[in-house]
Amino acid sequence: MFKIISGKKDIGAEIICDLKKINKGNIKKINLALLKYGMLYFRKQNLSSKNYIKFAKKFGKLAEYPRLKGLNKKYPKITVVQRKASDKGPSFGEQFHTDSIYTKKPPRFTMLLSKLVPKKGKANTEFCSQYLAYNDLPNKIKKKLKKYKGNYSSEGPISITTQERFKEKGKINKELKSRHNIIRKINNKYTIYCSPGHFVGFNSKLKRESKLEKYLFNHQIKKKFQFSLDWEMSQLAIWDNRSMLHQATPFKGNRIMHRITIQ
Ligand SMILES: [Fe+2]
Repeated sequence: MFKIISGKKDIGAEIICDLKKINKGNIKKINLALLKYGMLYFRKQNLSSKNYIKFAKKFGKLAEYPRLKGLNKKYPKITVVQRKASDKGPSFGEQFHTDSIYTKKPPRFTMLLSKLVPKKGKANTEFCSQYLAYNDLPNKIKKKLKKYKGNYSSEGPISITTQERFKEKGKINKELKSRHNIIRKINNKYTIYCSPGHFVGFNSKLKRESKLEKYLFNHQIKKKFQFSLDWEMSQLAIWDNRSMLHQATPFKGNRIMHRITIQ
């Protein structure tokens, strides 16, 4: 059984299959679907950490997350994203962002596997297609943005949520910085590649373009480019970190996610 169920818009699709039993042909279809829909989710997947790593490796080399410690010695590439009902302040990743954009080579894909979730619809992850956002830009702005690079910092606007996690896990990092083109091409499709959660300015040689910055951020996250993913237990989601912004919706409750990123 391998079936792709897509929604109305080209943002997000569900795949019905058993991830423990997929073959090479299925992986090819998943890769193609990722290019088209940006984010895919698989419900009712009872994966052990070993199975999870095995599946993730089919998409490339596993990346190390520079800001958080791994699950344990055996599975250092699985990071635990946890929220407790008693936690105060924002959840991890509560602003639209691209994972680890402040590194020289941010991961291509991110995966989350739910281990514990609050009631369905209570703690969603929202995705925002930057392919659609790019296509919807006026030509004049497309042309302008192609000349720009963005500067990013691990201590950008979203970092308050990671600081909360440091307190728990005790892994402290120095500030990480990077610079990337604002518009990039992935398999002949243009996408906006800009993480509002980590952005600290356009290329330093250009004057601060606060009007353009505001315009871009407003445009990138319009509702019409969004898909909101409901979480249930044992659900896996994978997304293209280059073309999809994502954010956690604010919630109160217990949630545990196992996260893997792929280079
Ligand atoms: Fe994230």
